[in-house]
Amino acid sequence: MRRQSIKNSTILVVGGAGFIGSHLVDQLITEGANKVIIMDNLFIGARENLDGALNKGAILHVDNAENQEALTYIIENYNIDIVFNCATKPLNYSFINPANAFLTNVIVLKNLLELQRKNAFQTLCHLSSSEAYGSAEYQPMDEGHPLIPLTTYAAGKASADLMLQSYVKMFDLDAFIVRPFNNYGPRQNFEGEMAGVIPLTIKKILEGEIPEIHGDGKQTRDYIYVEDTVNIILKVFSVIPPGDCVNITTDQQTAIKTVVETVAETMKYKGTILKKPARKADVQSHRGSTKKLTDMIGTTQKTPFKEGIMNTVDWVKRVKYKSQ
Ligand SMILES: NC(=O)c1ccc[n+]([C@@H]2O[C@H](COP(=O)([O-])OP(=O)(O)OC[C@H]3O[C@@H](n4cnc5c(N)ncnc54)[C@H](O)[C@@H]3O)[C@@H](O)[C@H]2O)c1
Repeated sequence: MRRQSIKNSTILVVGGAGFIGSHLVDQLITEGANKVIIMDNLFIGARENLDGALNKGAILHVDNAENQEALTYIIENYNIDIVFNCATKPLNYSFINPANAFLTNVIVLKNLLELQRKNAFQTLCHLSSSEAYGSAEYQPMDEGHPLIPLTTYAAGKASADLMLQSYVKMFDLDAFIVRPFNNYGPRQNFEGEMAGVIPLTIKKILEGEIPEIHGDGKQTRDYIYVEDTVNIILKVFSVIPPGDCVNITTDQQTAIKTVVETVAETMKYKGTILKKPARKADVQSHRGSTKKLTDMIGTTQKTPFKEGIMNTVDWVKRVKYKSQ
C-alpha cells in the first residue's frame, strides 16, 4: 500500500479546534505537514486550543462541515491531500438533541466521502468511537465486537463507520477508521452539561463544589491520554489498509469511582463525593482489545494515569485562572 505521508502534505482537520483534533493539529505540524487547515464550527471547540498551531501557520475556518458547499470550498481552495475527521457533537448532547447528535456524525462524513469519491482529496482518516460497540458482550472488545449503540450519538458513530466501509468497497477510496476509547487530558471541555467526567471533577473541586459520581461508580472505561491517542493515530496512518478499523486503546479498565478518587487525591481534596442516580444508557463496561493495534504498529509508550491527571489538573487551573 502506498499512501502519501504526513510530511509535506496539505491536511484538513475537521473538528480540529476540539479536544483530540487540536492535539492532532499540533502533532501534524511537528511531523512536518506542509500546511494544516482546520474547519470547526466551534460548537464545543475553542480558538484557544489552537493558539500554538495558529502561531505556527495553521489556518482556522470557523464553518459548518455539515454544509457541503463550505466543505467543498475549503478542500478545493487549499488543494487538500489528507483529511482527518474529528467533528462530532458530545455524547451528552444526544440526551438534549438526539436527532441532531446523530445527524452531525453522519452528515459530516457523508459530505467528506462524496468529495473523496469525486477525487477532491486522497486519504481520509475518520475517528469513530468505542461508544459504537455499546456495553461489552465480551471483554476485551476487539474490532469484531457487534455494534450495539445505546445512544443516538453512538448510533451516528456506528452508522458513519458502516457508511465509510461501504464507500470504500464501492469506490475503492483510501479511507479508514480509528476507534478511540475514552480520552482524557488538557483541552477536554469542562464547562456545562457536556463536560467530561475528569475535567468536570477538577473544575468542581477548584470551585469548592462537591465532586459527583453517577450510579455506583463501578462502571468502567478504558482511559487513554490524548497525546498517546494522537501518536498512535499517526503511526496507524502509514500502515492501516483502506476500509479497515482499529481500536485506539490501552486494554485496561478503570472504574469511574477510581477516576474521581484519583483526581481528588491528586488535588488533595479530602471532602465527600456525591452519589447521583445512574444515567440512562450509560454503558457498564468498556475495555478494548489492543491485539490488532499491536499487530499493526507494535507496542507504544503509555502515559501513566496519575501523570495524565496531573497534566490535566494543571491545564484546567491555567485556563480557569487566566479567564478570571
Ligand atoms: N474524547 C473522547 O473520549 C473520544 C472517545 C472516542 C472517540 N472520540 C471521537 O474523537 C473525535 C473527536 O472527539 P473530541 O473528544 O475531540 O470531541 P470535541 O467535541 O472536543 O471535538 C469535536 C469538534 O467538532 C466540532 N464540530 C461539531 N460539529 C461540527 C460541524 N458540523 N462542523 C465543524 N465542526 C464541528 C466541535 O466544535 C468540536 O471542536 C470524535 O469523532 C469523537 O467521536 C472521542
